[in-house]
Amino acid sequence: MKVLSVLGGRPLYGQVQIHGAKNAVLPILAATVATKETCVIRGCPDIRDVDTALEILRYLGCGVDADGGVIAVNAAGLRRTEIPAGLMEKMRSSVLFLGALLAAEGEAVIYPPGGCVLGARPIDLHISGLRQLGASLLAQGDRLQFQAAKLAGGDVVLPYPSVGATENLLLAATAADDSVRIVGAAREPEISDLAGFLNACGADIRGAGTSVVTVYPAALHGADYRVMPDRMEAATYLSAVACAGGELTLRQMRPCHLQAVTERYEAAGCSIRSYDDALCIRAGGLHAVAPVITGPYPAFPTDAQATLMAALLKADGTTVMEETVFENRYRHVPQLRKLGADIELAGKIARIRGVRSLHGAAMEATDLRGGAAMLTAALGAEGESTLSHIYHMERGYDHMTQNLCRLGAKLELHGTDER
Ligand code: UD1
Repeated sequence: MKVLSVLGGRPLYGQVQIHGAKNAVLPILAATVATKETCVIRGCPDIRDVDTALEILRYLGCGVDADGGVIAVNAAGLRRTEIPAGLMEKMRSSVLFLGALLAAEGEAVIYPPGGCVLGARPIDLHISGLRQLGASLLAQGDRLQFQAAKLAGGDVVLPYPSVGATENLLLAATAADDSVRIVGAAREPEISDLAGFLNACGADIRGAGTSVVTVYPAALHGADYRVMPDRMEAATYLSAVACAGGELTLRQMRPCHLQAVTERYEAAGCSIRSYDDALCIRAGGLHAVAPVITGPYPAFPTDAQATLMAALLKADGTTVMEETVFENRYRHVPQLRKLGADIELAGKIARIRGVRSLHGAAMEATDLRGGAAMLTAALGAEGESTLSHIYHMERGYDHMTQNLCRLGAKLELHGTDER
């Protein structure tokens, strides 16, 4: 079994370059099948979910050339429109090939997508939105076969601003006969990045980043595009320095995307200076903050809930959190309690009572961000902790352990992959 050992109590100092965003590069890689010309995507992170996206692209028949952080995709040879269950279940974003394949070929066969187990995570909003665009669904058990001889224009209304459903609709809408208005769209920066990529491919998408996005008909061609920086990777380094102490500069990032998160770290006692594309954080004596309620952008992101919780475990006072996005997103809590954390759970509410100190313990990563929270909490605990099931973190963090070691953390990897 692969295990990460963490010797806590060592402050972090130095600089980190933030990588391209996982949640932006995955929809963009799916989008490359919507044109038959070569797309070059720069700044791609070296993470398992990107490997899975490339595996899917190759399976479908696309030419893929990955060199460092630069990935070139050419979908001229696309010969399949069905993604096997084994590939679909490797990550959540496999579902985004649905909208892209419908745009490219007018048909797609998918199976339930995988990803972190944060709740039921249905895809009903994706399906009802695509139906509003004129796609039909023939379902046999888990095999979901979609067809759309033609995709129609008009309004598509999303009753909840689902990130994935908005992305699937944007992708499919690029092939519609007439303009499509997505009403109730998610406003996450990664939606704007997908629209930015599609526009670089010749699409005419306006309003991305607001709740009404309009896609006008246009032919797509190849493009050369750089993915936006990963705001959740940046949020994880904020947690690491808040837990461990020290001072970090995060480079190649956009602090404006992270305002709801940095505000909380500042309120907790960290000192933060933001620039256009960098951020400096110095850890302070931490205290509890006003209730943190997760929600769709620009509210506090659910993906930063676990890592902020880790940072508040030793804060002076009690912080209340309310998780409104996913119904099962406190799976890290029992693991954090092993370090001596005092967290009370009642449905959507978590009450974090700060303790004087945490001690090392053996923890199991439960999901991507939960695992990251365990790692950052362990950096602030006395003695040695171990973390298993770290494949969850390898799905979404590029060289996190190496970076933390460079900054002064004492981490060691033992054993081999358990999957
Ligand atoms: C994306 C992000 C994930 C982030 C989440 C919320 C990617 C690859 N993942 O996930 O990191 O935590 O946004 O910011 O970008 N829902 C339905 N029906 C649907 C779709 C969603 O009920 O058809 C529900 C979900 O179960 C969840 C909520 O809506 O409770 C939010 O989901 P959604 O915004 O779709 O998140 P994802 O796109 O899965």
